[in-house]
Amino acid sequence: MWILSETSFDPTKQHHKETIFTIGNGYLSTRGTFEEGYPNDRRATFIHGVFDDAPVVVTELANTPDWLATQVVIDGEKFSLATGTILAYRRDLDLQTGVLRREVRWQSPNGRVATLIFTRFASLADEHLLALRCEIIPEFDGQIELRSALNGQTDNEGLLHWRHIAQGQLADGAVFLRTRTRKSGIELALVMRLVGDAALTTTFWDVENVPTLRQVYQARSGTPIVVNKFVGVATSRDTGNPLELAHHHLQRVTDWDQELTAQRRAWACEWERCNVVIEGDEEADLAVRFSIFQLLIAAPRHDQRVNIGAKTLSGFGYRGHAFWDTEIFMLPLFIYTMPEVARNLLDYRYLTLPAARAKARAAGYEGAWYAWESADTGEEVTPTWVPDFHDKKKLARVWTGDLAIHISSDVAYAVQQYWQATGDDAWYIERGAEIVLDTAKFCASRAEWLADRGCYGYTDVIGPDEYHDHVNNNAYTNLLAQWNLRAGLETLAWLEQHAPQKAAELRQRLDLTAERLQHWQTVAEKMCVNIAANGLIEQFDGFFKLKDVNLADYEPRTKSMHEIFGIEGANEYQAIKQPDVLMLQFLLREHYSDSQIRVNYDYYTPRTDHTYGSSLGPPIQAIVACQMGDVDEAYEHFIRAARADLRDVRGNAGDGIHAASAGGVWQAVVFGFGGLRIHPDGTWEVHPRLPKHWQQLTFRFTLRGVMHIVTCYPDGRAIVA
Ligand code: BGC
Repeated sequence: MWILSETSFDPTKQHHKETIFTIGNGYLSTRGTFEEGYPNDRRATFIHGVFDDAPVVVTELANTPDWLATQVVIDGEKFSLATGTILAYRRDLDLQTGVLRREVRWQSPNGRVATLIFTRFASLADEHLLALRCEIIPEFDGQIELRSALNGQTDNEGLLHWRHIAQGQLADGAVFLRTRTRKSGIELALVMRLVGDAALTTTFWDVENVPTLRQVYQARSGTPIVVNKFVGVATSRDTGNPLELAHHHLQRVTDWDQELTAQRRAWACEWERCNVVIEGDEEADLAVRFSIFQLLIAAPRHDQRVNIGAKTLSGFGYRGHAFWDTEIFMLPLFIYTMPEVARNLLDYRYLTLPAARAKARAAGYEGAWYAWESADTGEEVTPTWVPDFHDKKKLARVWTGDLAIHISSDVAYAVQQYWQATGDDAWYIERGAEIVLDTAKFCASRAEWLADRGCYGYTDVIGPDEYHDHVNNNAYTNLLAQWNLRAGLETLAWLEQHAPQKAAELRQRLDLTAERLQHWQTVAEKMCVNIAANGLIEQFDGFFKLKDVNLADYEPRTKSMHEIFGIEGANEYQAIKQPDVLMLQFLLREHYSDSQIRVNYDYYTPRTDHTYGSSLGPPIQAIVACQMGDVDEAYEHFIRAARADLRDVRGNAGDGIHAASAGGVWQAVVFGFGGLRIHPDGTWEVHPRLPKHWQQLTFRFTLRGVMHIVTCYPDGRAIVA
């Protein structure tokens, strides 16, 4: 299934639908709001890297001027879904081509009937180009007026980020708007041109901040009127002269069909590398493709200075900030299907090393401590306080920016995964190695010698399970740090052999003395972990002494256990927000036998808030369930993740796509049901375990430049092409 459709308009689902009908091209995304507007819509276009200061949340992606704005006036009445009668309606997002189409047959309050078809796409072939077609088929004789605008009056839920610079009409008739973010000073230019049926009159309305082209048409019953609105877009992040660049991209456009063909071709190339097909389960088939699509439209193809936010570019949630969600949940899709995108995202971490070093230094440590929430500069932008969910008038302290140290090892882990999958030694030598070494340096510097235990550990941290803060020796944090330290030592040894000059340079620049390296070795060897004889790992010191909880006692519920217990209260129970120990075992799969995973799986699964905890949890839970052979249970978790946005199961899809969940859906299919295991030495195997009703699963992945297409069957067979 390639088409995501809706066949009726339901205003109560407006924000949810705006999110899932988002289009984009890796440079920007535009939410699925209507061209003509709708009361209380959340109209938004976000461009990668266009951040501006904001109170409390430090910085946020600024909602850019609205390029969609198009009013259709039918014999003096403004077309709107809020008035008149909707006689027919459908909307289709074609995931194969990234084209969104809406067709509405509408009767005006005065009884005029017309069919309006709006088609839009953000060109993947030319990321500075946006295209919108408006086709109107009147069922009356009279007049139709089109008002096509660039609307600079946008805000971020009330907060204004833009200062108007200039607007006007260029010699060729194109209309432009120049505007600049208030604090960060990023200039943006939009240039619009209309191509299509000749109008009776075309007038330029020079409304301040909303330059508009007004066209009047003679309407004849049954004769379509077609107008294509092309918009060029550029910012001062791209060039010294955004207006010129935006105009340049617009000038080369000749007609709709040509641009659409280029769009189709560009998308076909992308799907060729990453498509997944599930036969026997239409919902899953669409969901996995939808998940991939959402990540592809947020994937920076030509920019190394940006990361993908936890809500992609599709909503206001998390303000465009990036988390470990990128490295651990989204990156595998890119690493194994579009490595050049993965490299861009890792380059962002390389380029933000100075900020990570500064964060470590400010806290009294060495090396690189990445921001828990990261934006343009890589400085920590996690808000310190947010409204408390029990009483929105009160504030709750957010500790992740202060205590979640695992982010550094998560980044290092992704760097190594990229390197192993691609064999991109040149990049590793040039950039990746430095990340692994400097995060190892942080892990060693942050480690504390716990004399009473006779081991090194980390006190006062937060692990992946954020229902518990200020914990000591979170197993995930400790053991990923141990992995990071060893990876650092191995990296240096590898560099000595393969790039001795670089090894010498890094030794000197990062002060990697023999004593320091010896210390890394010791910390790694003596890392604290509470592990029972049967392999059960304690999530953190004292976890097993907390009050046990039977989550079934709280069913049915519509709230997370965090909301039920309260922020402080949740610390007293063994209920967890998302897999923590299981996440560790998933990442360090080679270190654990099946039986060691099983014992942890059995313990932690019933204590995890699968329904209302973190959306990051279910896909990982699904993968581990598959590995344990519990395919039915795996499917339950998988489908919960698959529905996160499509069915808005958590009720917050309106804030934007759950990007980590989307990446997790791909991983659950490929690593879970497909059973793909890639070993650190680059060898791989597949052991499919398909849900009962799946007739076939086909996925593709690229390793060391070679693409493999794997078809899996219900009997566990796999054919590799
Ligand atoms: C999760 C984090 C995640 C963040 C952004 C939180 O609710 O607990 O693990 O990084 O959301 O998606």
